[in-house]
Amino acid sequence: RGKRAFIAGVADDNGYGWAIAKALAAAGAEILVGTWVPALNIFETSLRRGKFDDSRRLPNGSLMEIAKVYPLDAVFDSLEDVPDDIKSNKRYSGSSNWTVTEVAESIKNDFGSIDILVHSLANGPEVTKPLLETSRKGYLAALSASSYSFISLLQHFLPIINPGGATISLTYIASERIIPGYGGGMSSAKAALESDTRVLAFEAGRKKQIRVNAISAGPLGSRAAKAIGFIEKMIEYSYANAPLQKELSADEVGAAAAFLVSPLSSAITGSVVYVDNGLNTMGLAC
Ligand code: NAI
Repeated sequence: RGKRAFIAGVADDNGYGWAIAKALAAAGAEILVGTWVPALNIFETSLRRGKFDDSRRLPNGSLMEIAKVYPLDAVFDSLEDVPDDIKSNKRYSGSSNWTVTEVAESIKNDFGSIDILVHSLANGPEVTKPLLETSRKGYLAALSASSYSFISLLQHFLPIINPGGATISLTYIASERIIPGYGGGMSSAKAALESDTRVLAFEAGRKKQIRVNAISAGPLGSRAAKAIGFIEKMIEYSYANAPLQKELSADEVGAAAAFLVSPLSSAITGSVVYVDNGLNTMGLAC
């Protein structure tokens, strides 16, 4: 049978999550997505009204089918963790079962199991602030949404990921090199995510032969990246300075992700793979 993938962090057709979903669909996988609760309504409406039909087109001419869209807020592990102001928030109260444990439970009830888990989400409320000006609350929120969210997803999905399954998350070179402007603890969050990729590869590998890798992606003008404020500059910088002087397309990251969750990469785990036109290798911009 074909593989089944759950991609957490898809709310429009611009980001890496969407491109990864398409690459997996093109390779024959069944696609389930997790959409941030506040973005759910507009995403589902746009899907239904055909707004994404052009970008749903796969290389064979058919349109990508999303078997089910699950509301998700990956900063909450279970209902007990949800504070009252969120519970009563209109954008949240219209949906249910969106904590990580509940989504895992729903997918188990609906489909039984998955083979592929993709984490393509991040959030840092103080991302525009330098680290030196970041509050404790902002820093911990960045880590919660961008790093622990992956641990939580893997922890709660592990029982329903088939042995031999694979997971992937998206990281950024700001974890290891200084990228002024990528603030609010987001650089720290990516460093944690990359370290966790190794430790979780060991633990999930030993426990269930599940692989854990990350893609360190180059700059893309996604919704999340535009919120940071200097993404156009990063794209121009990469174009000017990378070994491959071309704009990075989300589909290139999608293709690499499809490889990293396929049997073609069956001996690769605990790795952070650069998909950035080679920009990370430069020592002197020229
Ligand atoms: P995006 O905006 O398409 O994806 C981020 C998603 O995270 C959004 O759909 C948002 O709704 C969701 N999200 C935020 N908080 C959430 C929560 N608490 N629970 C569930 N979902 C939540 O943007 P993009 O850029 O494609 O981001 C995907 C991943 O790629 C992120 O991890 C990002 O850090 C990473 N990345 C992006 C780069 C870029 O230049 N765009 C470069 C390198 C890595």
